[in-house]
Amino acid sequence: MSLNSDKLQGKVCVVTGAAKSIGYGIAEKYAEQGAKVVIVDIDPLVMDSAKALCDKGYDAKGYILNITDRDAVLACFKDIEKTVGDVFALVNNAGVVDTRPFEENDESIMDKMFKVNVYGTAYCIQGALPMMKKNKAGKIINFASKSGKTGSALMAPYSAAKGAVIVLTQSLAFEVAKFGINVNAICPGITDATGVWSSVSAGYIENMKMEREEIVKNFTAKIPLGRLTDIQDVVDYVFFLTVSGEYCTGQALNITGGREMH
Ligand SMILES: NC(=O)c1ccc[n+]([C@@H]2O[C@H](COP(=O)([O-])OP(=O)(O)OC[C@H]3O[C@@H](n4cnc5c(N)ncnc54)[C@H](O)[C@@H]3O)[C@@H](O)[C@H]2O)c1
Repeated sequence: MSLNSDKLQGKVCVVTGAAKSIGYGIAEKYAEQGAKVVIVDIDPLVMDSAKALCDKGYDAKGYILNITDRDAVLACFKDIEKTVGDVFALVNNAGVVDTRPFEENDESIMDKMFKVNVYGTAYCIQGALPMMKKNKAGKIINFASKSGKTGSALMAPYSAAKGAVIVLTQSLAFEVAKFGINVNAICPGITDATGVWSSVSAGYIENMKMEREEIVKNFTAKIPLGRLTDIQDVVDYVFFLTVSGEYCTGQALNITGGREMH
């Protein structure tokens, strides 16, 4: 698709979990289109990633932030407001996955899945929302998953958390539509060359006693368009929802090559 638009010139766009993988791809696309990009991540690598964007001549700033710490998140958004400007777009990309038999999911795993994927998403929205409401404009894009539509074996807590992200998205879309704010979710399928897929495939190798090639072959066989998702597929749809899609809110958009259809 590779849309281009001048609509993001000078606009502040925040992407969480953007030290690498999908988040970094989205940040780079925003930066290329003239946005002031803010990337946050718990991984200190985020500062190198922000520098890499600046070295290319883009306007970028990095923050090391644990999105599960509400006070730290709210303070970070205050600082963004003061030092970069009012947030126009917020992409809640940061997420964690876990793969294990259901009965092994203890409290710490359950907590982690919900705290990062759901609470962290909610806290970042709380940080950005006052600026969006004030300006009567904003785009919030949350990361759910195909697993949040149809749950995945060995990934029940993750699937439940991503399902919660979809309903959070719908509720907020109702609540803030009157402020000119669009709230949507993205549901990628297995996305190649990412941390989540690397962790999931390692979990499947261990739990299903299958080789990686066999796992990829089995998954790909279920995808009508015949390949795994790639980072650019996801970047394109996030960008579309940021610069267009004005009449689209409360949706959970599948980017799965047809693997998920509802
Ligand atoms: N990769 C896939 O196959 C796939 C499929 C469906 C959905 N998703 C979703 O897409 C998003 C991005 O996936 P990815 O594969 O690029 O992930 P990734 O693991 O490559 O990157 C996620 C980033 O989030 C950061 N992060 C984790 N916990 C954090 C915290 N508490 N605070 C701040 N940052 C934190 C990590 O440090 C990492 O840099 C996730 O929400 C994931 O659940 C991915």
